[in-house]
Amino acid sequence: MTSQKFGGDWTAKKLNFFTSYLDAYLIALQNQKFKKIYIDAFAGTGEIETSDGEAYLAGSAKRALSAERRFDHYYFIESDESKASELEHMIDTEFPHLKRFTTVYRGDANEKLGKIINDIDWRFSRGLLFLDPYATQVDWATLECVAVTKSIDVWYLFPFSALNRMLPKNGKYGSWENTIDRLLGDNSWRTEFYKKDPQVSLFDLGLVDGDEDEERLVKDASPEHIKEYLISRLKTIFPCVSNNPRIFKNSKNSPMFLFCFAISNESVAAQRLALRIADHILKNK
Ligand SMILES: C[S@@+](CC[C@H](N)C(=O)[O-])C[C@H]1O[C@@H](n2cnc3c(N)ncnc32)[C@H](O)[C@@H]1O
Repeated sequence: MTSQKFGGDWTAKKLNFFTSYLDAYLIALQNQKFKKIYIDAFAGTGEIETSDGEAYLAGSAKRALSAERRFDHYYFIESDESKASELEHMIDTEFPHLKRFTTVYRGDANEKLGKIINDIDWRFSRGLLFLDPYATQVDWATLECVAVTKSIDVWYLFPFSALNRMLPKNGKYGSWENTIDRLLGDNSWRTEFYKKDPQVSLFDLGLVDGDEDEERLVKDASPEHIKEYLISRLKTIFPCVSNNPRIFKNSKNSPMFLFCFAISNESVAAQRLALRIADHILKNK
């Protein structure tokens, strides 16, 4: 029995996309001299019961460990103590032969991922990273750290609806500013997603003086616009990013997450191959 419950239809889709890429990745690297590193930064328990209670799914950790081909090392990060223990128990009982190749870190993904990245010599290693947070937990600085390795491919479930909720129509995003900056890496979203309200203001009519009528803003951010902006932001740090992230919607057809793929490797041949596989999955599955 698992303590982990969430998601809907798209949970299975997300995991299927990711595992399809993982299998292709291990085939592509099978005859290469690099050490193959798996990093699951929001690992969970290895098993998921969907929130409608209708399905049990193998989670990302279990899927990675059961792949036909092996990584040289598996790193898991999980902040919830009891989930981390469940994950360790799952590894002990179901994958005892892989135990010595696994490390489970308890704590914050940003901090532990920084440590893992520092501990590995990326000249001789290639990594596959899964960033599967519930919401806005991934710091932009962490993505920068990943990009610097020039050796990690990353699938990032970007929290689209959480961001959209922090961008109110009336431009009063004040209390969320720091969170959004941390999520998106700078403050360019302010001018990207907000325009000056074209309606005549009390100031324009001369009914109040300038100090009382600060500039009013209106939101100008369709889902497509947010998607394009995020892709352009990722392209400022990764040399290659898929232009085809998948939007996962809830049962009311509202966008919940954007599933993005980015490559930090600077080799054009490696980028071409990785992007061909990822785009095939994102467009066709
Ligand atoms: C969407 S679930 C991940 C599910 C997992 N990928 C799977 O397929 O089973 C997100 C997980 O991240 C954990 N978590 C939340 N905040 C975290 C943080 N800051 N650092 C690490 N883990 C975190 C949660 O406890 C939860 O288990």
